Amino acid sequence: MTTIAAHGGTLINLFDPTYSYNSFEKEIELDNIGLSDLELIGIGGYSPLTGFLGKADYESVVENMRLTDGTVWSIPITLPVTKDQANSFSVGDHIKLSKDGVVYGVLELTEIYEPNKEKEAQNVYQTTDREHPGVKKLFERQDVYVAGPIKLIKRTEKQRFQTYYLDPVETRQKFEDLGWKTVVGFQTRNPVHRAHEYIQKTALEIVDGLFLNPLVGETKSDDIPADIRMESYEVLLENYYPKDRVALAVFPAAMRYAGPREAIFHALVRKNFGCTHFIVGRDHAGVGNYYGTYDAQKIFSHFTAEELGITPLFFEHSFYCTKCEGMASTKTCPHEKEDHVILSGTKVREMLRNGEIPPSTFSRKEVIEVLINGLRQQVTS
Ligand code: ADX
Repeated sequence: MTTIAAHGGTLINLFDPTYSYNSFEKEIELDNIGLSDLELIGIGGYSPLTGFLGKADYESVVENMRLTDGTVWSIPITLPVTKDQANSFSVGDHIKLSKDGVVYGVLELTEIYEPNKEKEAQNVYQTTDREHPGVKKLFERQDVYVAGPIKLIKRTEKQRFQTYYLDPVETRQKFEDLGWKTVVGFQTRNPVHRAHEYIQKTALEIVDGLFLNPLVGETKSDDIPADIRMESYEVLLENYYPKDRVALAVFPAAMRYAGPREAIFHALVRKNFGCTHFIVGRDHAGVGNYYGTYDAQKIFSHFTAEELGITPLFFEHSFYCTKCEGMASTKTCPHEKEDHVILSGTKVREMLRNGEIPPSTFSRKEVIEVLINGLRQQVTS
């Protein structure tokens, strides 16, 4: 095993496929976020969490970015239900957690409480603006939270890319098998463009391995779909990365777009998967103009290195510079903005949908081909 301890000290494992739930009648129909959270709790991705947060922990996370025992935790992991449903439950109930008629887990109900969503939005997302995709989701979800420890009984069906679904225990083993002592995690919800490649490879200069860990849970509808992105990662790794220095596996969580708070969360979860380092670049997990470019880096200074247990690697805005004739960042390049190849995500998506090819200084041609083909098939299917 890699030497890095799971967050809180113990890697949680609550998967029990033999757990008998036939005698339980009550049931909660999960949404996509609920299902991915259930699975991530069950496999230890969210260690030290063993269930959905109770009121005291929820309030503590919202207020202080810590669980009540002081452990750093920045995103509330909660299970919302309707008021009517909540009224039909009693503390002590065992409730089946299902989706589309399939039971995936069981919640042992310890608490039912009403959250202050305005406060949750303000503290976690720094805005109550319903245009923010994370805030919108927060308010779309039901209004009462139920809490308690869970059991994970069934794993979700992995259709394509099955081999890239690795549990923390498996990634840890993989890193050990590869002989990596230090591993840098990279979170992304986008295709890997030259700027990403630059910061990944810069990080790789000082650690043993790169863990490319794209998020494939629920994202907003204009983000590029995960299956198309997965293909783009494959061609990129095949052509431009040393095989024995990179591991690719998916991160099945939903995107929250919570910027700084999500950067902390992303780092802690990658620690559970066995990473010792974590890349935080420009506007990590941000959306629109809700967060400052480097807010997701600054937030790390609220915590000690020991409390985090994973080392963040910060990178400034990176780009290709036509005067430097190479990749650079605001930290290393003396030239003007006009000399930099910078395309917004929106602009790139627009180009791809029109079949236009962004410059190779922005993205590798193999990646672009996959994206254009994928999006074309999506439109015609
Ligand atoms: S995220 O929402 O998953 O963070 P994205 O996939 O765009 O979005 O970014 C992945 C990681 O790369 C994040 O750490 C982000 O800060 C960083 N990043 C993205 N683009 C750049 C860039 N041009 N320069 C520096 N860092 C970047």
